[in-house]
Amino acid sequence: MTENPYQPSLATIEKIKVEVTGERAIKTFRLVMQDENVQKEFSFVPGQCVMISRLGKGESMFAISSSPTEKDYLEVSVMKQGKNTSALHEAEEGDTVGVRGPYGNHFDVEGWKNKNIVFIGGGIGMAPLRSIVNYTLATKNRDQYGNLDIIYGARTSNDLCFKDEFAELRLRDDVNVHLSIDVVEEGWKHFVGFVPSNLLKVNPPSENTIAITCGPPIMIKFVIQNLLELGYKDEQIYTTLEMRMKCGVGICGRCNIGNLYVCKDGPVFSNAQLKNLEGDM
Ligand SMILES: Cc1cc2nc3c(=O)[nH]c(=O)nc-3n(C[C@H](O)[C@H](O)[C@H](O)COP(=O)(O)OP(=O)(O)OC[C@H]3O[C@@H](n4cnc5c(N)ncnc54)[C@H](O)[C@@H]3O)c2cc1C
Ligand code: FES
Repeated sequence: MTENPYQPSLATIEKIKVEVTGERAIKTFRLVMQDENVQKEFSFVPGQCVMISRLGKGESMFAISSSPTEKDYLEVSVMKQGKNTSALHEAEEGDTVGVRGPYGNHFDVEGWKNKNIVFIGGGIGMAPLRSIVNYTLATKNRDQYGNLDIIYGARTSNDLCFKDEFAELRLRDDVNVHLSIDVVEEGWKHFVGFVPSNLLKVNPPSENTIAITCGPPIMIKFVIQNLLELGYKDEQIYTTLEMRMKCGVGICGRCNIGNLYVCKDGPVFSNAQLKNLEGDM
């Protein structure tokens, strides 16, 4: 990438996939760097983020939702919120965006080898989890991890991201998918209720297991409470923080908690680390 930390590289939107329609619309953008060498050199680890700009509209941080095993592109999954995300949702295939990054720390995919992993997501919070799910399921990596369980929910079936991908995962016997929606819908065959309740129902054993949770703050709070109830230790529980960010590189001070910058020292933290930070939040 370029030496000026604020200078984006240009990427082309190669593919746009509509994940969720309506009020809480989500689209996945497949981006390819316009400079072949930049694309070749672009490497990241699941959990890391990028700043994406739509020229003249603004810049926002997004988790990379594709797996680093896909070398030819990166993907971000974006929920329409305000100015920049709306401008992204209006973009078309072939349009140009700016990309800075990758930024931040990441999930410890090396340190978690030989462990079971439980992925617990809500709504757009599945975006960073999709990266590590697909990384651990990649043919060259799968036998390096134990049991993989995905517990994922959204308000309605329309609000579930990556629906067709989950349908494919449900056909595999080396990963368990547990979907939920908040309220009853005709034809829904999976769990009805909030994600933390589905977690208790699935009851994934805590021994030799890492739990990663991403989603709305209220969901994360009750997921962590329930994981502790199921016998997980603070060191086995990981989440990502989504503080407001501006520079993304530890310069502006927009995202600090105490003396930590979430953009640089995070966004991935264990519950043990979060407990230490509690006084500063
Ligand atoms: C580390 C990190 C990872 C993220 N990953 C993703 C992702 O994978 N997919 C995704 O859709 N979004 C993600 N976000 C949130 C995304 O950056 C914001 O939604 C986006 O910046 C909003 O920009 P905007 O100009 O459209 O909205 P604005 O016009 O700035 O604001 C519109 C609304 O969005 C809210 N908002 C703005 N910024 C944030 C923020 N950082 N966190 C929560 N609410 C915010 C505002 O309160 C307001 O209600 C992430 C944020 C961070 C910090
Ligand atoms: S966003 Fe500027 S210091 Fe983190």
